[in-house]
Amino acid sequence: MIIAIDGPAAAGKGTLARRLADHLGYAYLDTGSLYRAVAVMVLHRNGAPDNVEAATEAARTLDLDLLGSPDLRTGEAGAAASKVAAIPSVRAALTGFQRQFATHPPGNAGGAILDGRDIGTVICPDADRKLFVTASVEARAERRFKELQERGEAAIYARVLQDMRERDARDAGRSDAPMKQADNAILIDTSSMTPDEAFTAALDVIEDAG
Ligand code: CDP
Repeated sequence: MIIAIDGPAAAGKGTLARRLADHLGYAYLDTGSLYRAVAVMVLHRNGAPDNVEAATEAARTLDLDLLGSPDLRTGEAGAAASKVAAIPSVRAALTGFQRQFATHPPGNAGGAILDGRDIGTVICPDADRKLFVTASVEARAERRFKELQERGEAAIYARVLQDMRERDARDAGRSDAPMKQADNAILIDTSSMTPDEAFTAALDVIEDAG
């Protein structure tokens, strides 16, 4: 069983995917953390995230130990991630790992849940279930603003909103694997949902389709 969850930044995909994976006993891969890790490797080497050679080299030699690092969660890492993610050779270098995770989930789990931007369209077009989780840009900026504040990062709401709009435009506008709802994905708009409501709505979709 492969479940693909796509959608824009801070729509609530990660929280939802993690809860679904716990509930169903499936393995979970946050594919955004792969792009964030590539971006952080480039930044640590004082490279530019839109430098094709630097970003491709980082993607090909990705250090998986970085995936749990708090460095990945900063606003700077998120913005840089969407720049490395627009480079086709970076995406190509990360495709095999994601597909392998989906078809052979670690721990012999009975299924895999992957969240990202192109899981239902490019990485796992044959996924058993596809969700597209979104929310208004204001609701997403509000959530991201609170997350950054809770982590002690100095954040300004207007700036977070502006960054969110830029990231949406970059993710949806790139030519390679742009963020978009797969034809057969079910849309969940979490703008006015609590995390519990989003979880129930997603579980209904997954079980109904089964
Ligand atoms: O956590 P947040 O929703 O802010 O972003 P993320 O899921 O960690 O992804 C960071 C960036 O990686 C996104 O803005 C995308 O540009 C890129 N990404 C991608 O291109 N494809 C994916 N499957 C996942 C993330």
